[in-house]
Amino acid sequence: MSIKVESANVSINDEYLKAERERAAHAYKDLQTGDIHMTGWVSLPDEISDEKLDAINAAADRIKADSDYLIVVGIGGSFLGACSVIDMLDKGRGVKVLFAGHGFDPVELDETLKEAEGGDYSCCVISKSGGTAEIISTFGIVRERMLERYGREETAKRTYVITGADGYLSDLAKAEGMITFGIPDDIGGRYSVFTDGGLLPIAAAGIDIKALIGGAKKARKEDFDAEDSFDYAIMRQLLNEGTASQDGTEKTAEIYEFYDRKLVMFGEWLKQLFGESEGKEGKGIIPMSLLFSRDLHSMGQFLQQGSPIFYETMIRQEEDPEADFTVPDFVPQPFAGMKLSRIERSMETGVTNAHVSAGTPVITIYFNKLDEDSVGEMLYWFKVQCAVSVLLLGVDPFNQPGVEAYKSEMRKAL
Ligand code: PA5
Repeated sequence: MSIKVESANVSINDEYLKAERERAAHAYKDLQTGDIHMTGWVSLPDEISDEKLDAINAAADRIKADSDYLIVVGIGGSFLGACSVIDMLDKGRGVKVLFAGHGFDPVELDETLKEAEGGDYSCCVISKSGGTAEIISTFGIVRERMLERYGREETAKRTYVITGADGYLSDLAKAEGMITFGIPDDIGGRYSVFTDGGLLPIAAAGIDIKALIGGAKKARKEDFDAEDSFDYAIMRQLLNEGTASQDGTEKTAEIYEFYDRKLVMFGEWLKQLFGESEGKEGKGIIPMSLLFSRDLHSMGQFLQQGSPIFYETMIRQEEDPEADFTVPDFVPQPFAGMKLSRIERSMETGVTNAHVSAGTPVITIYFNKLDEDSVGEMLYWFKVQCAVSVLLLGVDPFNQPGVEAYKSEMRKAL
């Protein structure tokens, strides 16, 4: 197991912790039996066949051979998994993946199209339901541009449709002979990063999807056997109910904190995973994310002395970064001659100490490094921790009845 969890200012009575650990182990067992709906993602890493991964890699190779860019049209769970993995692991070994359809912003779409049109491009549209407004409208615009440039037959060859439903997208794909992939019925968007919808864009970016799945398999095999395997899932609920915080206040916000810009979109993925799984029935912890040291210069004051409604979950990489610099000698002490990474480590320690001294509960989650193995492990680990934690709260982690409300209001406004 390479993920480690530490905590400060979290106090749980031994008897209570023992009982919660038993409940958490039970919830994890329930996830695996298949008795709970929408849990296809739990065994997915072990069930994905080599043939399936080869088929995804073959499609990705084709994209790499005929395109400089891949426009991925998707939103929410059909966007955040792939986008966060690509941000964490992209080494420029594949095509440049451009994301579109995660909003209606025409200026952003115009910029994306202009960038793609600077070379050759393909398009991958991902929609489990096949009918999401942002996706359908954006895909139509991208397709129109492709038809103008490539003609009908070539556009079809350059279009990859990933959907889990019958309807417009699957009908179009069939009629035009486009390459199609699927999203299983029993896997919701926020748990879908290891489905075709996550893996095709990731593979097109030149990232090793077999190694990524290998990391998830490792998590499944090694990370959930120990007595304390679910302490993160437990701590967040007990902090929320106020029993684990030293000042007895209910912590209603969880702030994910990162020290590496490459993890910013991973923070967005975590926000969807936890926010959409937990925030229902008037319950839930609001997830937020910050990038340090940038945001210490805007939010550091609040974190140190503001309203004590939150706890912090720092996500830290154990290995030193790949690149580094030494601060030149002409710069004043104590910085002269220091490695930038060394200064950053001191900042990480300093921030933790200062926030712990202020009495804030701080959970620190260490992962090994930014490679396929560690990222695959981390994605799977968080999905399990989230599901277990939300089950402990007594809420269904796998539905999202509230997201329809704004959509129906939008339809009325249209
Ligand atoms: O997790 C979810 O269910 C959502 O974020 C969806 O992924 C998002 O709304 C896109 O839906 P679809 O893939 O059905 O177009």
